[in-house]
Amino acid sequence: MPKIVTLPGDGIGPEVTAAAVEVLREVAPDVTIEEHAIGGGAYEDHADPFPQRTRDALKDADAALLGTVGGAHDSAWNKLPRHLRPESGLLALRRELGCYANLRPVRVLPGLEHLSPLKAEIARGVDILIVRELLGGIYFDQDRRIDGDTAYNTMRYTTPEVERVAKVAFWAAEQRRGRVTSVDKANVLEVSELWRRDVQALRDRDYRSIHLNHEYVDSVAMLVVANPSRYDVILTENLFGDILSDLAAVIPGSLGVMPSASLGDGAGLFEPIHGSAPDIAGQGVANPAAAILSAGMLLRHGLKRPDAANHVDRAVAIALREHPTRDLGGKADTRTFTHAVLEALGTPAVG
Ligand code: NAD
Ligand code: IPM
Ligand code: MN
Repeated sequence: MPKIVTLPGDGIGPEVTAAAVEVLREVAPDVTIEEHAIGGGAYEDHADPFPQRTRDALKDADAALLGTVGGAHDSAWNKLPRHLRPESGLLALRRELGCYANLRPVRVLPGLEHLSPLKAEIARGVDILIVRELLGGIYFDQDRRIDGDTAYNTMRYTTPEVERVAKVAFWAAEQRRGRVTSVDKANVLEVSELWRRDVQALRDRDYRSIHLNHEYVDSVAMLVVANPSRYDVILTENLFGDILSDLAAVIPGSLGVMPSASLGDGAGLFEPIHGSAPDIAGQGVANPAAAILSAGMLLRHGLKRPDAANHVDRAVAIALREHPTRDLGGKADTRTFTHAVLEALGTPAVG
């Protein structure tokens, strides 16, 4: 029996994860689901944002489903030593699982163009996959320090790190429209020069059927919202991918519909790209679509159950059409939306 570890975390994390778990129980009733602590709440209870009990539970898990971690800007958690902060728990989790490739799909589903703030003709049919490198770059380099009025972080990549994530992007493009845009800042940064060189060399050696081009990150930040249909797969490093994916959330209409899958050496990690949304946490109004779609990605990539994954995707599309949440200009709260998804799956919700 497959085992999934859920990590609801902080803020709206528990609210949206509960919705995703309801959906998982419906479409994969044979799966064992075990809940564990991560983030700020885990620090409060276990003095560690990624407690040993959680690490141990992940050892024999087939996949992990994360909610969100972190507090508001004025949270006491932000005054803790960095390694004890909620976000450090999440970064340690990604590293523990060896999840170096973060897949962030950006899709405007048929008939849902009206949920986008962009003109319908720009939003219609958008289907981008952002492949974000997740374990390297400026996020993880240990050459970092704050020292009086001087502070620094280091952006560093090695060829093996670039190649392993680029392979995932090329592999994904092979199942899609065969185009990869590698995004960098090679006009300024040596790291980007290496990135561009290695991605191009890998394409020329092993993926000659893929159309590869290179663009600068500042230009992509404009073009991805002005003309999103020009992109198929976008491959980029950790920090650029973090920023571009929140920006790309404008296309479907909200961060609340943006799921992700983090793949690598072992069990995959599946999580919405949004944060803990302290401004709406505890109100029961968060959009659980991103979490439910992340459960869909877990079924597809983690458990290799594409039929169940497609079933979930279709149900979310129906619910978004009929019961959009507030972040999308609608009225549905978390409960109403989740009921709509369960109903669209063919089973009326109870409770
Ligand atoms: P955020 O993503 O939490 O919120 C940004 C805006 O989007 C807010 O107005 C919020 O209400 C809205 N929003 C986000 N998700 C939503 C949803 N599902 N439904 C409806 N509205 C939604 O970003 P932030 O405010 O910059 O960060 C808050 C905290 O979350 C910080 O502590 C940050 O470090 C953390 N964070 C965690 C993750 C993660 O766990 N993967 C990701 C990003 C940010
Ligand atoms: C995300 C988040 C995380 C990141 C933070 C909370 C560490 O913003 O998943 O996009 O920067 O990767
Ligand atoms: Mn982010």
